[in-house]
Amino acid sequence: MARTQVAIIGAGPSGLLLSQLLHVNGIDSVVLERRSREYVARRVRAGVLEQGTVELLQRAHVGERMLRERLVHDGFELGFDGKTTRVDLHALTGAAVSVYGQTELTKDLIEARSAAGAKLLFEAGEVSIEGFDGAHPRVHYAHGGRRHELHCDFIAGCDGYHGVCRRTVPAQSMQSFERTYPFGWLGILADVPPASRELIYSNHARGFALCSMRSLNRSRYYVQCGLDENLESWTDARFWDELRRRLPAAVAEAVITGPSVEKSIAPLRSFVVEPLTFGRLFLVGDAAHIVPPTGAKGLNLAAADVRVLYGALVEYYRTGRRESIDGYSAQCLRRIWKAVRFSWWFTSLTHKFSDDPFNHRLQLAELDYLTGSPAALGSLAENYVGLPFDGAG
Ligand code: FAD
Ligand code: DHB
Repeated sequence: MARTQVAIIGAGPSGLLLSQLLHVNGIDSVVLERRSREYVARRVRAGVLEQGTVELLQRAHVGERMLRERLVHDGFELGFDGKTTRVDLHALTGAAVSVYGQTELTKDLIEARSAAGAKLLFEAGEVSIEGFDGAHPRVHYAHGGRRHELHCDFIAGCDGYHGVCRRTVPAQSMQSFERTYPFGWLGILADVPPASRELIYSNHARGFALCSMRSLNRSRYYVQCGLDENLESWTDARFWDELRRRLPAAVAEAVITGPSVEKSIAPLRSFVVEPLTFGRLFLVGDAAHIVPPTGAKGLNLAAADVRVLYGALVEYYRTGRRESIDGYSAQCLRRIWKAVRFSWWFTSLTHKFSDDPFNHRLQLAELDYLTGSPAALGSLAENYVGLPFDGAG
């Protein structure tokens, strides 16, 4: 029978980072991932890291390539009413954000874990968990054509929104909060220089658009789309045309087009489960909460959960004290709800919810107010760069 201290379900950013931070602190873990290594390393998702996430990666000894290759952004642009206005993050908060793709981060983490000889099992099937309400949690899974049982002290459910861990908890033990939005994001990746040096979030009567990037030669663009849209109907030409129509003219002219290397649609959702802890099971990252991507908070929030959990586990194994473990859920939820609120607000401000021109006029008035008020801009900026960790949840 195999045994580890912490069984981690899921090798997304949460599971890999938790495993790496535990390893750096002498705590053993096994990571079980249902997808293949290639699939996990290829998935294109988030692109903006808060400074707190950057520091956590350094603490995990996986920051070297990121510090070399990231693009530091001191601000971003808000596009509306035919023009752009810069939000000077650095002047407003003293902080900046880093553009570094989740794909690259995941590669760095997988490499670091593999180099350390980690028990990182890809293509682990039929994962199930039990016994976490008692002293002896167990994980069952299939791997290499055989069934296995893993005994552990704790289980970390890092298995995303569709994972098995949250679904194993009896429904009466948790409360879920959910909001779905009547649209999604259609995103493309193309090996062309970005339209602008910084990101541009654009409110337009036709719907939201976002100009982002992965590097100086790789652009990431999104347009708001309907939930029933079919990816095949979005040829590259149609995408570029729609993107340009939703951007201020000067930006539209600067967009350099090229063949897409990836194209996908993601629905938008806010979701939180409470609590995050069930006996010896902890839910972490997307397994416990989802935010619409507008504020670039999903990945950063996952990293914030990991920061609290690894600290609590290190304290437990060093001292036997359970206070931090017991406080994991409440501490994380304070930050989670603030990010849920910010992401909902930023989405509401920038997306088209209906054809009612009254709503669009209200958004334009709020954007006009926001960009003219240092106080309002300060609030946007401090949320965007990431709220502080000291006591603020
Ligand atoms: P995940 O990355 O979802 O990882 C969970 C892992 O668990 C996966 O590898 C999965 O295969 C594995 N797993 C699931 N079930 C099982 C099982 N039964 N057994 C074993 N393993 C299992 N955030 C942003 O900030 N900006 C963005 O632009 C952005 N775009 C996104 C686009 C999409 C399509 C999605 C889904 C998310 C996006 N996000 C974005 C959110 C961000 O990517 C997530 O918040 C982040 O990936 C969370 O990491 P995680 O490790 O908690 O979960
Ligand atoms: C990206 C995604 C976001 O949700 C965001 O707010 C900024 C950038 C991106 O994928 O590059």
